[in-house]
Amino acid sequence: MTLQGSHVLLGVGGGIAAYKAAELARGLIKAGATVQVVMTAAATAFVGPATFEGLTGRPVHTGVFEDVHRVLHIRLAREADVAVFAPATTNLLAKFAGGLADDLVSSLYTALTCPIVVAPAMHTEMWLHPATQANVARLRGWGVHVAGPGEGPLAGGDVGPGRMLEPEDLVAAVAAALADGAGGPAAGALAGRRVLVTAGGTREPIDPVRFIGNRSSGKMGYALAAEAVRRGATVDLVSAPTALPPPPGVEVHDVETAMQMRAAVLPLADKADVVVAAAAVADFRPTSYRDQKIKKEAGGLGSVELTQNPDILAELGASPHRAILVGFAAETDLEEERGRDKLHRKGLDLVVINRVDMADAGFNVDTNRALLLTRTGGRREVPLTTKSEMAAVVWDEVEALLAPAPEVGT
Ligand code: PMT
Repeated sequence: MTLQGSHVLLGVGGGIAAYKAAELARGLIKAGATVQVVMTAAATAFVGPATFEGLTGRPVHTGVFEDVHRVLHIRLAREADVAVFAPATTNLLAKFAGGLADDLVSSLYTALTCPIVVAPAMHTEMWLHPATQANVARLRGWGVHVAGPGEGPLAGGDVGPGRMLEPEDLVAAVAAALADGAGGPAAGALAGRRVLVTAGGTREPIDPVRFIGNRSSGKMGYALAAEAVRRGATVDLVSAPTALPPPPGVEVHDVETAMQMRAAVLPLADKADVVVAAAAVADFRPTSYRDQKIKKEAGGLGSVELTQNPDILAELGASPHRAILVGFAAETDLEEERGRDKLHRKGLDLVVINRVDMADAGFNVDTNRALLLTRTGGRREVPLTTKSEMAAVVWDEVEALLAPAPEVGT
């Protein structure tokens, strides 16, 4: 992946991280790119255009009424091989997602046909706001590469997710977006692929009114299914009981127990290109089922004898299959060794180790934190984010695993 000889458009938004955009401009130039900077009015309150002019050796543009006879925003858009917006503030992301064009940066954005990277930077509350998350999901759906944010110190002494990625990481993201080709739309990146997602917590009945269950709400699995549809996949969702509405465009197969889940999953997995197992499957079921309610007067439950359930994912991993296999691991810490062990023991291509011991991650919340490990040694930590955003990250990783290896000599 190289930027040598490329023409990069750098749009600087009005956030404190604008100072890091200067370092990004330097990094892009060092990587061999020509860099054209445009700034919002708010960005100029943080860093002066002269800084970027000095670094890039080119005039910096800040308004649509400059160079009017040459239709500045169209000319700059056509010159760009790849564009990066850093920092991409809450406001910029909303404008991009809403198609607003009321200043140079947003007008230019709507005229771009090249690959686009946005580097969100804002306070945690603003990043996690449903409007921002919806805007980011929309942009992803249109093929925009969303780089970050990371977690760390923010303006005003706060710490959390929302910090703009470091300039060297953004240089790599810009190079990757350029290598991805003409827009590399994520929308449609899974077109023609069939994926199977499992979700929810299985219930293992003891009698007609009681069962052994767990705290899974299905939110993570449903977010994965919805994101796969957005990316153009044909999606089967094998769902244990949840309170969630079926995601539009998904074929839902309702099951209750682990054995029913296994019966639904095995034939569907045969046809799938990717299987993502987000369900919390009970490891044990009552050995016998009483078809009458057990009465406490008659001695009650006493003890319940348990039988081990089959491990559906391990079974898929051990049998001949063509699908990419993605497992989730519910852990009370991000214990890498245990996750790596699950990855290999279950024959997975990717494991998503998520925390289930924190109030804002794991079971029955809208947010999550995870460590992603691939069979080929890849490692990616995802700090606190929404389950929709986590789903997007998981599919980004899966898409990379699905991508054909480059031919030798090309
Ligand atoms: O549903 P939410 O409320 O949104 O919560 C999300 C979640 C915490 C349930 C989810 O993100 C998660 O971690 N799912 C996997 C939970 C789990 O069963 O972890 P495990 O470490 O026990 O299993 C590892 C993998 O093997 C999982 O992909 C699981 O689906 C699979 N498995 C496990 C047991 C079994 N008998 N058969 C399986 O296929």
